[in-house]
Amino acid sequence: MGHHDEHLSAHVEKIQPPTEFFKNRPEGVEPYITSFEQYQEMYTESIEQPNKFYSKLARENLHWHRDFEIAKFPEHGFYNSWFVGGQLNASYNCVDRHAFKNPDKPAIIYEGDEPNSGYKVTYGELLAQVSQLAQVLLELGVKKGDTVAVYLPMIPEAIITIMAINRIGAIHSVVFAGFSATALRDRINDAYSQVVITSDQSKRGGRTIETKRIVDQSIKECPQVKNVIVFKRTGDESVPFNSKVDLWWHENLPKYRNYVPPVPVNSEDPLYLLYTSGSTGKPKGLVHSTAGYLLNAIVTAKYVFDLHPEDTIFTAADIGWVLGHTYVCYAPLAIGATTVLYEGTPVYPTPTRFWDIIDDYKCTQFYVAPTALRLLKRAGDHLIKPYDLSTLRALGTVGEPIAPDVWEWYYETIARKRASILDTFWQTETSAPVLCPIAGVTPLKPGSCSLPFFGVKCAILDPQTGEELKENDVEGVLAFASAWPSLTRTVWKDYKRYLETYFHPFPGYFFTGDGAARDKDGFFWILGRVDDVVNVSGHRLSTAEIEAAILENPNVSENAAVGFPNELTGQAVATFVALKAGISGAEAEKIKKDIILTVRKEIGPFAAPKEIFIVDDLPKTRSGKIMRRILRKILVHEEDQLGDVSTLSNPNSVGDIVNIVKAHR
Ligand code: WTA
Repeated sequence: MGHHDEHLSAHVEKIQPPTEFFKNRPEGVEPYITSFEQYQEMYTESIEQPNKFYSKLARENLHWHRDFEIAKFPEHGFYNSWFVGGQLNASYNCVDRHAFKNPDKPAIIYEGDEPNSGYKVTYGELLAQVSQLAQVLLELGVKKGDTVAVYLPMIPEAIITIMAINRIGAIHSVVFAGFSATALRDRINDAYSQVVITSDQSKRGGRTIETKRIVDQSIKECPQVKNVIVFKRTGDESVPFNSKVDLWWHENLPKYRNYVPPVPVNSEDPLYLLYTSGSTGKPKGLVHSTAGYLLNAIVTAKYVFDLHPEDTIFTAADIGWVLGHTYVCYAPLAIGATTVLYEGTPVYPTPTRFWDIIDDYKCTQFYVAPTALRLLKRAGDHLIKPYDLSTLRALGTVGEPIAPDVWEWYYETIARKRASILDTFWQTETSAPVLCPIAGVTPLKPGSCSLPFFGVKCAILDPQTGEELKENDVEGVLAFASAWPSLTRTVWKDYKRYLETYFHPFPGYFFTGDGAARDKDGFFWILGRVDDVVNVSGHRLSTAEIEAAILENPNVSENAAVGFPNELTGQAVATFVALKAGISGAEAEKIKKDIILTVRKEIGPFAAPKEIFIVDDLPKTRSGKIMRRILRKILVHEEDQLGDVSTLSNPNSVGDIVNIVKAHR
């Protein structure tokens, strides 16, 4: 680290954003930012005078039940509260204010798993259903400050649910519906949710998923859960229904009026918690505050994506991840735009679903993880040529690094050099983009997420000394040197862990967990996680969590999980497993299958390791620490760069593992 690799970016020149961006827009829709200088002025004000900057934005963009007294308190440093003294309600901001003005405008365009199986939900209809579900929750005893668990597929009811929960001042805890019963159980219990909202089954890529059965399995060990609200997605008769606990969505909502007043909450009251993986085995429930989160959802969507009320945005992300929270649900609705909610996969039944959606609904913004782009690029450009795609103005990516060739393909084949490509870096912790171009304005470099967004001061630190590397052309770990409205406030019921995870590694900074470089032009390049987090198809996985899951298998004595590069999924997980004494041969082969099942059961199918190597011994230091670095090098065939292994407690293990990996490939 220190001075930054020549090959990476030093010679990548800036591309000016397409000038057509400013022409290709519906009449009356003016860009929010028209020049790079305007971005720079706003950025400087956001850092130097945050109170002035954010007071104005918050009053322009949010409806307040009671005005706030101060935007940022204290005005400098970390550990701030935002919009103190103010009261607001998120569902009022996302639903009511648009429903009153434009009841017939589509809020949601739902595209089902099967082509042509979707429908639209207007703002007026949304307000009615949100109000009805809010009353069901009140009747079940849910109060302000309670958490409600959500385990739903990508259907409009997911958005209705999120809005109904925040309407009564409760806190939603959405669990990605690909998580297993065990993972769901842990999240329900950690949040102490007493009500769960789910569907009978789910549909994805033509397959049926037993959503309700997974919930039933998980709540066997959640003694506090009193009720489960079930939306009928497929109507399959065999799905179990326990009338002591379960309530049908379609039977209960119509019992209530189509309007119930929203409950104003304080700015800093939690809006939601969202579990995410870190270096240790136990997922953290990150808490986001109501006003700060909602404001930054709006502000990033406006300025980065040029999202206007007249627009239709298609974010191809699950509502169970932060991208889905902010860019499928909150930002589009808070602005009063139309959001496309797509239930299925990019390739079912054909790899043209995204392009069909964009043309059919005249989408103006599209946002997706690079993993889907790699898949669709591979499917062949002849499939894309027939599409118009001319309504698109801004095309985003997030979740993992985008390789320059995929970036260029996105720009030429999908954007057709008319729309801006936006490589946006953010995290569940930041809840909205923090390093990103401004559409139409920021010069672009394929593979770089460019420059910081308003309020965000990014620092590159020397990983050994923690010293900030202030000049350009440096490489190190990425940290934030400022706080802004949507930075996570705490870990649910564990403020100590929040401080330990984010603030203690590098005092004076918020640590992201990512490595990064800043090039000679001051542009940022994300180099991937420096902790035990692996990014598989944009899904953030903790290797520590995978290791803990594998240890549940009674035949396993030790294991180490590490990430390695994969062409399609970005990274994949390999695991090195030592079995209990006396197990070998056919029995060991069978255990590999069991290990996959164990991970599917403990975490979810998406976390299953791609490769499993049965080994006698794992390389360890004299103090017993497993040397995962060595395993990573072996996986990428860099066994000649392992350095001195003779100081390990078991140096022979290394040669054995090299042979096992070679034999396998
Ligand atoms: C990675 C997703 C490179 C990064 C919104 C981060 C990225 C983690 C980018 C957060 C990007 C996100 N380029 N890497 N543009 N965006 N990442 O919490 O490692 O699911 O720390 O939030 O994804 O993942 P999370």
